Amino acid sequence: MDDKKIIFSGIQPSGTLTLGNYLGAIRQWVNLPKDYHCIYAMMDMHTITVRQTPAELRRRTLELLALYIACGINPDENTFFIQSHNPNHAELAWVLNCYTYMGELQRMTQFKDKSSRHAENINAGLFTYPVLMAADILLYQTDYVPVGKDQMQHIEICRDIAQRFNAVYGDVFKIPEGMLPKVGANIMSLQEPTKKMSKSDPNPKAYISMLDDMNVIAKKIKSAVTDSEGVVEYREGDDTKAGINNLLSIMSSVTGREIDDIVKDYAGRGYGDFKADVAEAVVEKMKPIRAEFDRLVADKQYLLDICKKGAESAGRISQRTLNKVYKKVGFVI
Ligand code: TYM
Repeated sequence: MDDKKIIFSGIQPSGTLTLGNYLGAIRQWVNLPKDYHCIYAMMDMHTITVRQTPAELRRRTLELLALYIACGINPDENTFFIQSHNPNHAELAWVLNCYTYMGELQRMTQFKDKSSRHAENINAGLFTYPVLMAADILLYQTDYVPVGKDQMQHIEICRDIAQRFNAVYGDVFKIPEGMLPKVGANIMSLQEPTKKMSKSDPNPKAYISMLDDMNVIAKKIKSAVTDSEGVVEYREGDDTKAGINNLLSIMSSVTGREIDDIVKDYAGRGYGDFKADVAEAVVEKMKPIRAEFDRLVADKQYLLDICKKGAESAGRISQRTLNKVYKKVGFVI
């Protein structure tokens, strides 16, 4: 491979993508400068830590690829693949499991959160999930991992595992860095704006799915929970302002305008006008993506061909790291 820096990221095809996934992750992928080598995966192996319906998981995995492309990430310039198509992920994850402590994994917020929501199925995969994620990243000697804020803890543990391994065996892994967008790193629920917007929220009014109809998107934004003050103003850390802060972040993120600049437009005006404009801006952004998605998803063979090519390339790049690891730990190769 050439000496371009490497970007790796991925999303779980465990539900329809939300506006949070788009603004926190995919939107920054689209805007990454041309001088990176970008690898993006559909993380199907991570999804089975909670029960999935097999036919739906298969369908959503290809839909996720169609969405990546519909959002503007060019399949000719970037590598896309399905995680389970490259067995090196599972193989490296096993090795890294032996270099990760139970105590570190017990501290992971996502584990605590998911195990309380799925109390009937606290499986070992849910617990070691961050180790598989570390393997995903480290296999490609990744420089940067563009994600939303909720994934930063997983990137920290990935760095710790890599540093621990390197301390024993020398420079095997590149130490990756997380990359957060300037705005939109933490899009909140529209109904409980102190909670993150999540595709697993039982209340569909709390999140915008990228596959919602345009009038549904507008309706959800117009019925977003705000406050009774009636002043469009951004106040970081003020929970009473969480709803407005969130809508301002969304507006800034979809229009590319600074928050301060947007606030000026609404001096002396009510939330009704503001929400209507946010709804319009989001719909404007989503409309062409949705149309392109509908076109792409109808061509299953095209999507499968991209996955096949991507898996070959991902397999080749990652094999070098896995061979090195196997040699270092003492496996006969
Ligand atoms: P996942 O599938 O939950 O989310 C995918 C991406 O969307 C971001 N995101 C958000 N950003 C802003 N506001 C929100 N409300 C919001 N909700 C989600 C996430 O931060 C993420 O960037 N463990 C990962 C998937 C994964 C991965 C990896 C990512 C597996 N292996 C290797 C990067 C590198 C996850 O569950 O993301």
